[in-house]
Amino acid sequence: MLTDINNKLSRNKTESFKPNGIIGSKVFFYDEITSTFDKIKELPIENGTTVVCTTQTSGSGRLGRSWESSEGGIYLTFALTNPCEKFDMPFITIVCALGVAKALNKYSPCDIKWPNDIISGTKKLCGILTKNTAVSGSVACALVGIGVNANNSFSKALPYASSLKAVTGKEIDENKLFFEILNSIDYIYSNYSQDMVLSEYKKHCINLGREVTLVYEGKEVTGVCKDILPDGSMLFDDGESTFAVCSGEVSVKGIYS
Ligand code: BTN
Repeated sequence: MLTDINNKLSRNKTESFKPNGIIGSKVFFYDEITSTFDKIKELPIENGTTVVCTTQTSGSGRLGRSWESSEGGIYLTFALTNPCEKFDMPFITIVCALGVAKALNKYSPCDIKWPNDIISGTKKLCGILTKNTAVSGSVACALVGIGVNANNSFSKALPYASSLKAVTGKEIDENKLFFEILNSIDYIYSNYSQDMVLSEYKKHCINLGREVTLVYEGKEVTGVCKDILPDGSMLFDDGESTFAVCSGEVSVKGIYS
């Protein structure tokens, strides 16, 4: 049984919150599961099918890390069954980061730490992990996993994590925020061109023009983030050369790594 009190995420409290588009047109709610990635793979996937839960016992983060998934957070995965129709696969992450940032910005000013952390000041409010998979044989499918720190709190072991509740001082309506995030991503996905996404993403991106440290081929390299390129990669200048970085660990001076 899902929690059904006050502002907690619940399948019984969503009548007033509706998806505007394809993402979230079919939502499967769960209480505790291992991971929304595991669950969505067990379900009949259509474009926009979404799984959301109140807690995960085995939430996964980027670069093989785990994702703390206690009650009060929003843990969701949605499927895009034909993501390359509009945007190249790596760019989907950029689209989603912008969508989440715009949704969270209505509560409190936030930025994007390339490629897809949503931060408030120096603290992380949300992480996004996109996986490519195949459903129904060989059809390409992107599974976008989003973990949002809405009302959850963190142990001292995670000093760089915070929640919307902590930064606003107010309890967050998790059902409302859940659909606002889906609708925000759906709007951008459906209506924006790649240029529009990139130009808005850059306005929120904290890395641009800042000193960044990159873990690259096992070594740490410090340089400057010069640009975010049309494929979503980061243009990095280490003083000797300028090159595009597609993924990996990047820390921004003064912000958590
Ligand atoms: C990151 O490391 O920043 C990405 C974190 C992604 C966490 C979300 S929570 C919902 C979905 N299910 C998971 O197991 N992980 C993602």
